[in-house]
Amino acid sequence: MYPERPAGIAFGGDYNPEQWPRETLDEDVALMREAGVNLVSLGMFSWALMEPEEGRYTFGWLDEVIDRLHEAGVAVDLATPTAAPPAWFVARHPDVLPVTREGTRIGFGGRQSACSSAPAFRAATARLVRALGEHYRGHPAVVMWHVHNEYGAPLGECYCDHSVAAWRVWLRQTYRDIPALNDAWGATFWGQTYTDWSEIDAPRANHTVLNPAQRLDYARFSDGQHREHYALQRDILRELTPGIPVTTNFAGTVNCKSTDLWRWAREVDVIANDHYLKAELADNHIDLAMSADLARSVAGGGPWMLMEHSAGAVNWQPRNLAKRPGELRRNSLAHVARGSDSVLFFQWRASRFGAEKFHSGLVPHAGTDSAQWREVVRLGADLRALAGVRGGRVRAEVAIVWDWESYWALELDWRPSVDLTFRERMDAFYEALWREHVTVDFVHPSADISGYRVVVAPSSYLLTEASAKNLHRYVEAGGNLLVAYFSGIVDEHDTLHPGAYPGALRELLGLSIEEFHPLREDETVELGGRERITARVWSERVRPAGAVTVRAFAAGPDAGHPAFTRHDLGAGTAWYLATAPVTGPVNGPVNGPVAGPVSGLRELLAQVLDHANVSRPRGLPDTLELVCRGGHVFLINHGGEPVTVEGVSGVSVFDGVRHDGAVTVAPGAVTVVVETPHP
Ligand code: GLA
Repeated sequence: MYPERPAGIAFGGDYNPEQWPRETLDEDVALMREAGVNLVSLGMFSWALMEPEEGRYTFGWLDEVIDRLHEAGVAVDLATPTAAPPAWFVARHPDVLPVTREGTRIGFGGRQSACSSAPAFRAATARLVRALGEHYRGHPAVVMWHVHNEYGAPLGECYCDHSVAAWRVWLRQTYRDIPALNDAWGATFWGQTYTDWSEIDAPRANHTVLNPAQRLDYARFSDGQHREHYALQRDILRELTPGIPVTTNFAGTVNCKSTDLWRWAREVDVIANDHYLKAELADNHIDLAMSADLARSVAGGGPWMLMEHSAGAVNWQPRNLAKRPGELRRNSLAHVARGSDSVLFFQWRASRFGAEKFHSGLVPHAGTDSAQWREVVRLGADLRALAGVRGGRVRAEVAIVWDWESYWALELDWRPSVDLTFRERMDAFYEALWREHVTVDFVHPSADISGYRVVVAPSSYLLTEASAKNLHRYVEAGGNLLVAYFSGIVDEHDTLHPGAYPGALRELLGLSIEEFHPLREDETVELGGRERITARVWSERVRPAGAVTVRAFAAGPDAGHPAFTRHDLGAGTAWYLATAPVTGPVNGPVNGPVAGPVSGLRELLAQVLDHANVSRPRGLPDTLELVCRGGHVFLINHGGEPVTVEGVSGVSVFDGVRHDGAVTVAPGAVTVVVETPHP
């Protein structure tokens, strides 16, 4: 259920008028009109103002703000302020303060300072949300509810007594009896067999490594506790204001590890995502694209909302680079290209005090006589011109398997190499596909993937038997699956699948692994072939059993043995890559920018894409981002040279110019063409 209003693309962001004197409201409303703002999120951190003492609710100040916005045609995404429980509440209920894994109880003065499992917090939440919902029921300005703020960050797992009590309840519901839990956790190892639920503690910091199955379950449990806290609020709001969508803003699809967004997606009416550029990273727009594609994917392909990003610099990274001219526009329109029907920011006006005073806002400290404000006003006009994009679908022929449970499991302690990280593999494959101009969806390994020409599993360490069967069926029916090393290794309890690695995928891939040979930090290996490919991190002894070798290791511990294989199975093909080709250019720096020849990973991927007839533009520089959404072609030039894109005909949205078969995009510019056939 997507909010009905505002029409077109929503534009605006978090608005915190409580930080400013009353007069600023007049100026804010005038400036919002100037920029074309049509949606703001209000009240996110205002619990202390909404309930200054227990049970006394004061919404008068907020009424005035909402009424003024409404008169000005600005719709409201009204927040429940539970990410900021007030000082009086925490002082009265100190037991709500979260406890870290190391046993430190955090103090008041930050945010998210209450544990989602704490009964007093849940009760106070329910009372406040009911009062808020009753007060604003039927208010024409309120078009959606924004519950809490970024569940899972900074508060992921809590180790307080309330959490442990809830954890034992969760374990009972999950395993029903103690022997089943002992079995699932492999408790005979290191003599950890339990005889009663009361003996089971949270997986606290320890002088050695904790049982990995216990930790994995605690990650599931903790995420579930936040969802319960969310659902408590959502259910009250649905009861009071049926038809008004309820959501919560995700703390970054790709960047918040602790939330399983496949599960969260079932609980929210509309997907709302926050994304912040990693300012110092070269080509950080690729991380942005990945975040947006994952948001669209958890939204089931439907439109989603960019709930927060920044107009300029953030203030919480080591070096907070301001956005360069045109970057705000490129970033914003890239989110729209990839399925967002909103461009919202943290925050409207930069704060004068508090922890985020050096964070940019749409209205900067420098005021409106500034390049940034002019970019903001221009963006508002661009988004009005793009109203027709709303609801448009993005179609992808390629999918990447993404599973948070596998992410959690892979990064527990004592794996064969510290270089096995989920994001590193995901980023490498995503980047290679991005540079090939292939738009991708993300999928859970148990999802219906039959519609994709290619499915890539860069890091599926944890794979249930059912998911492995799903992948098997996909290939047999004609799909192309590319699996990378250290996938299909364990089940949902971090227990190895029986037999040789990769237990869950041996048959599908037509091979087994006799031994892992992780590489030293700086060690590389070579893959033979016409052009050699350099790889790092991993090597292993692959023993084909039906698979054929496409590339063999030419050097390293597995020289002469398969490095890249294919296995024709039924109507499809399963490919396997036993190492990590460097993502930079061949013979270039590891992970450096790709300027010259294609990287090794791109080369191997291209082979799979070609085999599967995946369509993609050829001959374009990889600084040009090309995405099609609902009849609109978005062309975003991240490079310093003009780029001519062939094969595009139609009318450019921003200047009305007609293009017949070719569009030239200026350096740093964005062109959106409504496609119509070449006459
Ligand atoms: C998060 C929060 C916001 C703000 C921004 C700053 O996304 O949700 O309240 O702190 O970060 O970048």
